[in-house]
Amino acid sequence: MKEIDSNKEAWSKISEDHYHTFLAELKSGNHQLNDYIQKELGDISGKSIIHLQCNTGADTIVLANQGAKCVTGVDLVPENIFYARKLASDLGVTNVTFFESDIMTLSQVYSGKHDVVFTSEGVLGWLPDLNIWAKTVRNLLHDDGFLYVFDSHPFFLSLDESKLSGEIYEIKYPYFGKTPDIDDSIGGYASEAKHGVKAYFWMHTISDIINSLSSAGMYIEFFHEYPENFYNSGNMLPSAKTGLFQYPYNADKYPMSFSLKASVYHSNQTN
Ligand SMILES: C[S@@+](CC[C@H](N)C(=O)[O-])C[C@H]1O[C@@H](n2cnc3c(N)ncnc32)[C@H](O)[C@@H]1O
Repeated sequence: MKEIDSNKEAWSKISEDHYHTFLAELKSGNHQLNDYIQKELGDISGKSIIHLQCNTGADTIVLANQGAKCVTGVDLVPENIFYARKLASDLGVTNVTFFESDIMTLSQVYSGKHDVVFTSEGVLGWLPDLNIWAKTVRNLLHDDGFLYVFDSHPFFLSLDESKLSGEIYEIKYPYFGKTPDIDDSIGGYASEAKHGVKAYFWMHTISDIINSLSSAGMYIEFFHEYPENFYNSGNMLPSAKTGLFQYPYNADKYPMSFSLKASVYHSNQTN
């Protein structure tokens, strides 16, 4: 798919910069899962985790260091996989493995089963089809396994983020839009932004997320919405919560991020 090929090239432009940023952060102890993830993911000790869209593996390594038995990182971009392996080797982390795959075709090339599918912070919009994603997630799980997601909230993603610091709410990206937004820049959160390759980003509604999972045989354990986000979209302040940013005016106005946990559905579950 031409859009995914273009995204692959775009993300490859910042792999090396991400590696340097994350190596420094991990060495200094400044790279942590955000507060909501830490509280909601629960005890992962002894678990086999697959981390989808793992980038250069920084969060994969954090999960591995929190007692998981093994963590497998998957990403579209070969350069990300190269640097993820290098990051793990530099830090002496051995209970991680990484491989390259498009999530849209992962089920065709991989049949491993895990206790947890983990995916977070800038993920779903890079995928054109959440029904394929949800079926893939189900296929990756043991029957008693679960999925954990933390990502930007679709309502926030529909707004013009350049105006939010002035508390102006303007829909820029149609909430129900089906065609991807095309940007000519990538990165900016752990590297300088790079320009010149098209990056395609799809809008998925809350109902797209929930319904794709329930159609794939997953049971929603919780869905939470938060006024903080995991990156600074312009003039935000660091939140008191680790790894999050917030506008001072937005204690209760609109959601910027969400989390969800979904387990494999069993017919004895009632609601
Ligand atoms: C914002 S980053 C996610 C970073 C993440 N928070 C982490 O754990 O480091 C998005 C990632 O999605 C990956 N990606 C984009 N499209 C993908 C696809 N179709 N299949 C697999 N990975 C994809 C990109 O290569 C990039 O590493």
